[in-house]
Amino acid sequence: ATPRITPAELMARKGGTPIVCLTAYTYPIARLLDPHVDLLLVGDSVAMVLHGHKTTLGATMEMMILHGQAVMRGSSHACVVLDMPAGSYEHSSAEALASARRLIAETGCDAVKLEGGVDMEAQIAAITSAGIPVMGHIGLQPQSVEKDGGYKIKGGTDDAIAALLADAQAVERAGAFSMVIEGTMEPVAAEITRRSAIPTIGIGASAVCNGQILVIDDAIGLTVDRVPKFVKEYAVLRDIVAEAAARYGSEVRARSFPGPEHVFQPKGKAES
Ligand code: KIV
Ligand code: NA
Repeated sequence: ATPRITPAELMARKGGTPIVCLTAYTYPIARLLDPHVDLLLVGDSVAMVLHGHKTTLGATMEMMILHGQAVMRGSSHACVVLDMPAGSYEHSSAEALASARRLIAETGCDAVKLEGGVDMEAQIAAITSAGIPVMGHIGLQPQSVEKDGGYKIKGGTDDAIAALLADAQAVERAGAFSMVIEGTMEPVAAEITRRSAIPTIGIGASAVCNGQILVIDDAIGLTVDRVPKFVKEYAVLRDIVAEAAARYGSEVRARSFPGPEHVFQPKGKAES
């Protein structure tokens, strides 16, 4: 089998064919996506998407490890990145490194991702210095939405633009191999992409980025709550699932399922 795509290979693709990324949280979805993407992110969005929490603050180390293990079992080609959950890295470089080591050791994932720029430079540097690849995440940072008072698009004022450029520089300086830019005005995403030596992966940050990522449930129309403006639904699985459940329900009530072809009969008795 050919080896997985490495973080170093993705870093070297800056300026080339856009890098294709999706989130994945489970074994079957990883199996289905793996041939088609460069990178699978086990995002802390799993807390909202699969577990029904109101924000990503519901993610825990244990949750990230279980889903990371499932995605690793279901993939063999894509580079797999695991989100560091809120509370596992912000307080100190030592905490960040210990958490990153545990996530990698227990899952075998290729890299970790954490949110923050200037404020997390020391944490990113501590992890990359230990040889663990890190993906940055700047712009809209879902782990900070409660503090920020909601999901707010970034880069609308000169101060915000300066802060974003400083964050991008800090992430790169700390040794990250790439960075997610989320919920950010196109001109700023373009400026960051132009100025950074590492690939930018956009989500709600326009096509100027060096790659794109979406939450898988958003991309396949399985999201049952709010769907953000930047999402494109490439399928509408909500309707397919609801229709299948409705049809199953009517067939069970009508005793037309199970049919003869689904039933076991003792030997000697003909099936039809
Ligand atoms: O948790 C997540 O899904 C993410 C991506 C949307 C970048 O961080
Ligand atoms: Na995340």
